[in-house]
Amino acid sequence: MSSTNNDLPTSIVIFGASGDLTQRKLIPSLFNLFRKGRAPKKLHILGFGGAAYSDEEFRKHLHAGLKEFAGYAFTEDDWNAFAPKLRYFQGKYQELEDFQKLAEYLSALEGESANRLFYMALPPKLFPVTIENLDASAQLIENGTWRRVVLEKPFGTSLESAITLNQQVHKALQENQIYRIDHYLGKETVQNILFTRFANTIFEPLWNRNYIDHVQITVAEKVGLEHRAKFYDSVGVLRDMFQNHLLQLLMLVAMEPPASFSASHLRNEKVKVLSAVQPILPEQVSANTVRAQYKGYRQEEQVNPNSSTATYAALRLFINNWRWKGVPFYLRSGKSLAGKQSQIIIQFKEPPLAMFPMQTMKPNLLALYLQPDEGVHLRFEAKAPDTVNETRSVDMEFHYAQEFGPSAIPEAYERLLLDAIQGDASLFTRADEVEAAWALIDPIIRTWETHQTPPLASYKPGSWGPAEAYDLLARDGRRWLDEEAG
Ligand code: BG6
Repeated sequence: MSSTNNDLPTSIVIFGASGDLTQRKLIPSLFNLFRKGRAPKKLHILGFGGAAYSDEEFRKHLHAGLKEFAGYAFTEDDWNAFAPKLRYFQGKYQELEDFQKLAEYLSALEGESANRLFYMALPPKLFPVTIENLDASAQLIENGTWRRVVLEKPFGTSLESAITLNQQVHKALQENQIYRIDHYLGKETVQNILFTRFANTIFEPLWNRNYIDHVQITVAEKVGLEHRAKFYDSVGVLRDMFQNHLLQLLMLVAMEPPASFSASHLRNEKVKVLSAVQPILPEQVSANTVRAQYKGYRQEEQVNPNSSTATYAALRLFINNWRWKGVPFYLRSGKSLAGKQSQIIIQFKEPPLAMFPMQTMKPNLLALYLQPDEGVHLRFEAKAPDTVNETRSVDMEFHYAQEFGPSAIPEAYERLLLDAIQGDASLFTRADEVEAAWALIDPIIRTWETHQTPPLASYKPGSWGPAEAYDLLARDGRRWLDEEAG
């Protein structure tokens, strides 16, 4: 964490301030940081956008959002203390003049030299021009202060576009000024993957190909398109969920222990493991991937009636290093499934010698439940009472809600915003990491889109996905552990 300059005023400028993200996530998170006394003492939050709001109208809009989306109770006194920090500035992203006016406005507001965090809650096509105009209006010069830019996902739509975007932002910014968001990294339970692995000694000796049979990573969503049909139809599940969230989970499960929790140590290890993932070559795509669309998708409003966009995918990946060689990592995610369930299941190998009847025995599992019922389970075999030699599977369980209270888990953005303000980039993705993730996902997308291979499967909304995804594991003599879920 950088310790410099944090006594100076801090301005947070949100580009795309009239959008959903600001009202639903960013302001509720900043307000909660303020209530907890974690926000900078001298703070200005300026919304920038095309819509015409007065400061008062903007505050009213955000206040209404807090009531609907905050997820915590707050008093009007808290709000009245926070509201004066919020202001609105109307402008156009393409207009340099508007950025020059913004610079003047901010300087007058701050009254002294100040740190600035620029948050791009914008469609990615506006990132380059916005950064260019910030640069051209001399707003990225640090000179004893700091300037940081937070970029929302998606970061590119392909390897090529991600490389281009990195080049564009690097024209005006050093890598250590860039904070690329993957909100999964802000989730407490996702960070808990690292704590489970590296704050304990009992798992590490087992965490390898000698004891682990395979790993399952599931991010199932009950929701469908949620008013984003047009965007989603052009993107699909691999770009929307795998290139970022699922590969992040895989990196945290599979990485080597870093030398420290610092951004560079942590991210070096993440990139290292990602680079060791065996790429799926075009001729291997059929055998190692499943793509599917839920029934009725093409009839959804704003979806192309001939769309072949996948709303569900399953992948089988291997990591070519000493720790993981030969251990399959099965990843799946989809929309309109039976429930919201994000979990990682580590299945251990069976005992080498069958001393007890194998019919009743199940392999040991370590299940990390990321949401909604956050916790950790360890399944092991116990002797079934009053039998000669039968076993029964039992669970050791830890649940966040039980241990720390029902609302102990804050919104992911709260942590990420605080880290960006404090200059800790550990939970943000680095340029090479984003590109390595695209390098894995891109060839699969290209094979899917150009050759329509494997054929697009379908599944019933409200199910756990297509039969083909079950076949993918059945071919290896394994199965998705749906019923073990949370
Ligand atoms: C977003 C995707 O990044 O993550 C959405 O664009 C998805 O399609 C969302 O619904 C899931 O996030 P969470 O936090 O609800 O698991």
